Amino acid sequence: MGFTGIRRALVLLASLIAAFLAVVAHAAYFPVGFNENYASSTNAEHTQVLDGGEVVNLVLDQSSAAAFGSKGLYLFGAIGMNIKLVPGNSAGTVTAYYLSSGGDHHDELDFEFLGNVSGQPYTLQTNVFAQGVGGREQRISLWFDPTTEFHSYAVRWTREIIIFFVDDTPIRVFRNNEILGVPFLNAQPMGIYASLWDGSSWATQGGKYPINWAVAPFVASFQGFGVDGCEVVGDNIATCAAGPVYAWWNAQRYQYLTAQQIDALKYVQSTYLYYDYCSDRVRYPVEPFECDKNWYGS
Ligand SMILES: *[C@@H]1O[C@H](CO)[C@@H](O)[C@H](O)[C@H]1NC(C)=O
Repeated sequence: MGFTGIRRALVLLASLIAAFLAVVAHAAYFPVGFNENYASSTNAEHTQVLDGGEVVNLVLDQSSAAAFGSKGLYLFGAIGMNIKLVPGNSAGTVTAYYLSSGGDHHDELDFEFLGNVSGQPYTLQTNVFAQGVGGREQRISLWFDPTTEFHSYAVRWTREIIIFFVDDTPIRVFRNNEILGVPFLNAQPMGIYASLWDGSSWATQGGKYPINWAVAPFVASFQGFGVDGCEVVGDNIATCAAGPVYAWWNAQRYQYLTAQQIDALKYVQSTYLYYDYCSDRVRYPVEPFECDKNWYGS
């Protein structure tokens, strides 16, 4: 092997090493497959696990709704998923992504996407159940078409605050006001669930537009099955409650919104919020106590 040969061999070796490092580095960030943390709750026709578990489609038709859920239960974390909603005429369909503890007096955090007739905007309804009490619906219209691309929907759930995010924009805050007597979600681990079902009787414009089965099946797609949360396993619930070493969300700065996030939240609430239980005097003649305590920063 002459000098050029050696140089070529070295260049080849260097590029092989670079390629190998790129793969290893990528692997560290690569989202884990569906089966790692989740399992289907409906058959393979209605919960379709695709691309080796990278994408899951929920398929709703007249024979069945569709669902999946996490294998584990979590107490605190930054938990979210990328979702592409049912395109076209999605009236009457409800795509739900939620955390729930189940049981009596359950805790629950909901994202519910209410479909619409073609060309009309989706509604995102959020709700918070604390120790069995819900009735805290808020509805926003989304500022993008959620059916053409994946968008991220997530909660940061800590001992002090729950923030709902759409992509990286905060859309809602529920603070720990236990000190004022408002129950908070901090003692019951929750599972993570997704479902697609028939909400014809209420979902779209108050039930005026039921599902049109002629355009079934309805398909919503999910991605991002890693879970950045504290999984309750065996008797570690106290560890999760206290915040283990890796629980970055426990740091003081994650208990508040940044100034920029406060501005973004204000903008969303003044521009896209069109229903808020806090201002519904028919349901709540007196404003629910926590409403003016869930505001913004420190
Ligand atoms: C559907 O579109 C109508 C008309 O634009 C709108 O009033 C409504 O809030 C939308 N969402 C739902 C879920 O009905």
